[in-house]
Formats: sequence, C-alpha cells, structure tokens
Amino acid sequence: MKVVGVCGSPRKGNTEWMLRRILKIVAQHDIDTELILLRKHDIRECNGCLKCEAGGAERKGICTIKDDMHDINTKLLEAEAMVLGTPVYFEMLSGLLKNFIDRTDAIWPKLEGKLIAGTAVAEEGIGQAVDNLKVYCAVCKMRWVGEVTALAKERNEVARYKDIEQSLNALGKKIVEELNSVSNVL
Ligand SMILES: Cc1cc2nc3c(=O)[nH]c(=O)nc-3n(C[C@H](O)[C@H](O)[C@H](O)COP(=O)(O)O)c2cc1C
Repeated sequence: MKVVGVCGSPRKGNTEWMLRRILKIVAQHDIDTELILLRKHDIRECNGCLKCEAGGAERKGICTIKDDMHDINTKLLEAEAMVLGTPVYFEMLSGLLKNFIDRTDAIWPKLEGKLIAGTAVAEEGIGQAVDNLKVYCAVCKMRWVGEVTALAKERNEVARYKDIEQSLNALGKKIVEELNSVSNVL
C-alpha cells in the first residue's frame, strides 16, 4: 500500500511540515509513503486542449504536455491514498495545488474510491481552502478521511503547536485504519 502527500506551498514551510508529520505516522505502519513537493517539479498549466478526455472514463491518462505531471499522475494511480496540503491564499487553496489538480484531468475518473485527506494552514482564517479540497474529492468520487487545519504565518511556526502535532498524528492513524479496513474487505 502507498500514501502520497502533495505539498502545494511554494516554500519549505508549515504545509510541508504538516504533511511530513502525517506521512511519518503512516510510514510507522509499514505503508510506503512519498511526499511530492510541487515547487520542485516542472508542472505547467493545463492548456485546456481536452485531448486527455478522449475515451471518457476509460481515458488513457495521456496529456499533450510533456512535463513531470506524467510521472506524478502515475504515482497517484498506484497509491491507495493521497494527502493534499495547501497554504491558504486569499482564503482558497494555493495556485500551485490548483494547477496540480487541473493536471489530474488526464486520470481523475480512475481516482474513484481512493482515500483522500487534507491539510490547510493560514495566518488568520482557513476560508474555503478545505472546502476546495473536498470539492475535488467529491468530483473524483474519492473518500474523504479528514483534515487538519492550523493558524500560523512564519515558515515553520506550526511546528511549535503541540495540539496541531497531535491532530496530525491522529489523522495519520486514521488514514492507516481506513487503509487497513479497505484491504480487509478486498
Ligand atoms: C499570496 C498569499 C496569500 C495569503 N492569503 C491568506 C489569507 O487569505 N488568509 C490567511 O489567513 N493567510 C493568508 N496568507 C498567509 C499564509 O496562509 C500563511 O503564511 C501560511 O502559514 C503559509 O503556509 P506555508 O508555510 O506552508 O507556505 C497568505 C500568504 C500569501 C503568500
């Protein structure tokens, strides 16, 4: 089993720290984990050509843009769960994460049934950021496991808050429990 974290912050900051914390707990249960730092990848904007949608739900996952998103989409398809992390920008998810989401158009029907969780961090208010992630979950017919939100501004401020760390640990454990219950049914 594998869980992929996706970090939508353009800096090494709170979002990355939160995702690493969740994945650390998951990895302690002999589940493979990988953190994808979107800022370190060449992921261009969707150009809206819609060629990836040929075949409808049976689409082959082929995008005309040749960049790192091809490998990232392959990793998402191989994983049983993903954790999306975003800094809150203007009360929404970050552009980096939204761009990533748009580029999953080539594969999204095949994400159905996978588990998804989220993190969001803002200076003052989370706004619609978690709702943005839940909409993506609903469109793709994935299963929402839960979210952790935090209020923090400076780069690694969130690491100081023990209650947030506990919530992240709890979400990591919940992902493990849900994965185990899914694998027991299969
Ligand atoms: C462009 C931009 C927009 C932001 N918009 C908001 C906002 O609407 N509300 C808020 O509370 N914080 C806002 N923030 C603050 C960030 O959410 C906050 O610094 C957060 O900790 C960043 O997460 P990171 O460390 O993972 O990058 C904004 C920051 C930036 C750079």
